[in-house]
Amino acid sequence: GFHIGTAVAGGGHHLEQPYPDPFTSDRPYRRILAREFNSVSPENQMKWEYIHPERHRYDFAMADAIVAFAERNRQAVRGHTLLWHSQNPAWLEEGDFSAAELRSILREHIMTVVGRYAGRIQQWDVANEIFDDAGNLRTEDNIWLRELGPGIIADAFRWAHQADPKAELFFNDYNVESVNAKSDAYYELTKQLLAQGVPVHGFSAQAHLSTRYGFPGDLEQNLRRFDELGLATAITELDVRMDLPESGTPTAEQLAQQADYYQRTLEACLAVEGCDSFTIWGFTDKYSWVPVFFEGQGAATVMWDDFTRKPAYHALRETL
Ligand code: XIL
Repeated sequence: GFHIGTAVAGGGHHLEQPYPDPFTSDRPYRRILAREFNSVSPENQMKWEYIHPERHRYDFAMADAIVAFAERNRQAVRGHTLLWHSQNPAWLEEGDFSAAELRSILREHIMTVVGRYAGRIQQWDVANEIFDDAGNLRTEDNIWLRELGPGIIADAFRWAHQADPKAELFFNDYNVESVNAKSDAYYELTKQLLAQGVPVHGFSAQAHLSTRYGFPGDLEQNLRRFDELGLATAITELDVRMDLPESGTPTAEQLAQQADYYQRTLEACLAVEGCDSFTIWGFTDKYSWVPVFFEGQGAATVMWDDFTRKPAYHALRETL
């Protein structure tokens, strides 16, 4: 029942255009994707800008292909994501909508997207990154929170539950691996929502880790407190980036430290009863988002560009 997952690179996005879409065109990539994992998460293809590019047009082609691939290979799918401040289409962010219109746009989107895959997606990241690091709701950059207020969070969970009563519905964020202001904010909000009967089922830590900042040693303790609220927990986007030396090639010590971070993250999840989903954010450096988003850092995944295995890969295998 334990799920080991990866993000599926679907082309475009942080990858230079015109870049072939790895999921469709890189055969060794697909073989490893099918063989090594029993869960997949579309890295981008269920985000608004891809799946809902115009107000009255959805584009399900890539999302459909990933879900079909997962079914052929008996893999679970994590849906990502429904309410977020980032990667929204211009028509939405720049549109001149009333509050009532925005609310019905979100409702329609959730009913349509979640409804389309009902029964085929095990976990949905319903609300992604709604708090900042200080634990305040992102009321400035999140269009939904800014225009509709915090009540929209409960609505999003209710709509998703209506559209797929079987899916486990999650809060998902980064920098919530430790007990800190941000994870406290999720803890308090979740308690409130559960008391109100809102269908929130899970809390997940993305776990975009960096050897610069050290390992979040209280990860297990933090997951455990959400577990004790009765929630499922998950690791959803693990990668471990590092400062690359001049040569571009990490040292043996760096790779050992990275392996240790991967291993301890998996151990923390395995130690918590309700943590049965552990996803890495891509399995090869070839398509990793890290070098594009974090200058000077990279080598964050478990395989090199040519798919050979790093110490981190072996550390995960040995821990399972
Ligand atoms: C990243 C993708 O990996 C990139 O391809 C894209 O350009 C930007 O988003 N938190 C999330 C993920 O929830 O959706 C992000 O994925 C990484 C941070």
